[in-house]
Amino acid sequence: MIEVDKQLFLEHLGGAEEAKKLGPEAKADAMEDFLASALKTIGVTEIGRYPNVAEVEKRIETRPFRQGAGFLFVNPAGNMNRLPPMPAKPTLADFFELRFGTGSTRNHCLQSAALAMKNGLREETILACLLHDTGAELMRTDHGWWGAALYEPYVSEKVAFAIRYHQTLRFYPDKDTGYEYPELYRYLFGEDYVPAPHVQAAYEMLKKHKWYMEPRLVTLNDLYSFNPNAKVTLEPFLDIIGRHFKQPKEGLGNDNSAAAHMWRSIARPDSPL
Ligand SMILES: [Fe+2]
Ligand SMILES: [Fe+2]
Repeated sequence: MIEVDKQLFLEHLGGAEEAKKLGPEAKADAMEDFLASALKTIGVTEIGRYPNVAEVEKRIETRPFRQGAGFLFVNPAGNMNRLPPMPAKPTLADFFELRFGTGSTRNHCLQSAALAMKNGLREETILACLLHDTGAELMRTDHGWWGAALYEPYVSEKVAFAIRYHQTLRFYPDKDTGYEYPELYRYLFGEDYVPAPHVQAAYEMLKKHKWYMEPRLVTLNDLYSFNPNAKVTLEPFLDIIGRHFKQPKEGLGNDNSAAAHMWRSIARPDSPL
């Protein structure tokens, strides 16, 4: 059985009081429902048994899209929605509100950052948690590297390092910090999956790196399952963004940084060229 965040599950049921009213069978049904909705947001349809790598590969030909495509570009449940227009000089907050919400990325990242804040972590770590999966709106495959490239011109080296390598450390348990291999990955990648060579190489580098804990802390606050309906806002993080994110005055995408085209692609994902 996949690991579930108890707090989020209770919220899904409408709070602890509501949960108490349910019998064991109703609770089991609700759990199944909760897991199915969490897995659906990342494109997994079956629960109850881990697939193996060969079965995961067989599914490729059952979908009209590739799993590596950014959440912004794919809707496994049906047609796309028309996106609201962006302001002329978009800020990070505008991207959060208008573009990062499509695949529950916004909620997942806000909930992870809220956990990091509750755990009393440093502001830069909270920021890394807040941004860690937003690159997956553009591209899911190698989303740590895409995310780091997207943010590198605007955040410190440490924050970019944490974003890039959280993807690697998600595959490697760490007893000392209490990080376990995510059950979710057995569904997503297959139970006999071996991380790609570049991920293995990154792990070998990270084990000896003085900043090992930067991405490790992101994985420790990365929620395994999340409630897509939880009400979370960017508001508690605006001060941290103000202090640690160099918002370009021209707007993200208009600033000629090395990542400006990536921001424009997120702003205009419907453009045919
Ligand atoms: Fe991630
Ligand atoms: Fe995550």
